[in-house]
Amino acid sequence: MRTEKDRAAVRDDSLRWRPRPTLHGRDYTSEEVWEQERERIWFGDWVCIGRSEEVAAPGDYLVRDLAGESIFVVRNREGLLRCFYNVCSHRGTKFLDDDARGNVRKAFRCPYHAWTFDLDGRLIGTPNVREDELFDRADYPLSPIAIGEYAGFLFVNLSPEPRPLMEALTDGAESITAFERYRMEELRIGHRLVYEVEANWKIVVENYNECLHCPTVHPELVQVVPLFRFGEVWDERTRDDGNRMVEGATSFTMTGRSELPKFPDLDPEDYGMYYGTYEFPNLMLNLHPDCVMYYLAFPRGPRHTTVVSEYLFRPEVIGGPDFKPQPVIEFWDLISRQDWEVCARAQTGVGSRAFTTGVFPRQDRFLFWFNEEYRLAMGRPPVG
Ligand code: FES
Ligand SMILES: [Fe+2]
Repeated sequence: MRTEKDRAAVRDDSLRWRPRPTLHGRDYTSEEVWEQERERIWFGDWVCIGRSEEVAAPGDYLVRDLAGESIFVVRNREGLLRCFYNVCSHRGTKFLDDDARGNVRKAFRCPYHAWTFDLDGRLIGTPNVREDELFDRADYPLSPIAIGEYAGFLFVNLSPEPRPLMEALTDGAESITAFERYRMEELRIGHRLVYEVEANWKIVVENYNECLHCPTVHPELVQVVPLFRFGEVWDERTRDDGNRMVEGATSFTMTGRSELPKFPDLDPEDYGMYYGTYEFPNLMLNLHPDCVMYYLAFPRGPRHTTVVSEYLFRPEVIGGPDFKPQPVIEFWDLISRQDWEVCARAQTGVGSRAFTTGVFPRQDRFLFWFNEEYRLAMGRPPVG
């Protein structure tokens, strides 16, 4: 677990920084590392899989592929969230389709032999299995998975002994819990983009956490956030890792303006700020005065990541006359595509036999701390 001292070390970064090595090339390419990551990171602790609004009503369900395990979330009759492996307890069939979402009134039915399970995962129907077979349905429920919610985000934990969700969320050098004033639990998805990125998920995360690439890769972005011109992601004079937008900008768009109504009751300075924060392992959150956009990374193997990019707005704004989100979406979509292109280039390069490790200068220190967090999760010693 990250301590206060570690946190201070990330902040106290002025002159004492010395260059550190990046992860090894094989960490981005090898199947063996990927298998370890699946167990230790994706199945070993809390991971964000979406928003609770997607399973708002009893019977609503959502299927996700989490690092090769198909799982689903459902809201039960009492309104509680449940999560299970998408695996029939009869003979193992995957009974719901990938990325399916919908509503079942009472039960899920396996398409193979039509066994049915209720919203709490109990086996309730076994057609043609005779009563006198001494077969007790109670012995064959679906396999449950821990699920929790914070700020409207759904988190699942596939480990048999999950630690408290809040402990995981407040661990690490940065946390999404610093932004309660944005009342994210009230926000709703107004737009969704899905990107297929030809890069390891850690390259996507590392790219998110540095801005050394901003002047070259994002000429439009550095117009809106001047600090990014200098390759920095963190303005030491503002709190919560905020970055001030250019004078007069009140929205994260090409022009710095939008017609979207601003979020109510933020702190006065928030209306000119951009905040970005990362929650290990796969949630990258961007807060703006009128919109919240996050990336959710879903790795498909060592060389491919599906990135879901969702845009949150006030519910009363979505569908109303002022709902003109296009400038925000277009601006982020441009930045995203620029990023994915360089991520794919980076992936190709780190797979070369010429590459062992690279180097992190000071502006890359957040990547180093991400790597330290990664090493900790992987059971490797820290580089320090
Ligand atoms: S495998 Fe699901 S009902 Fe037989
Ligand atoms: Fe970028």
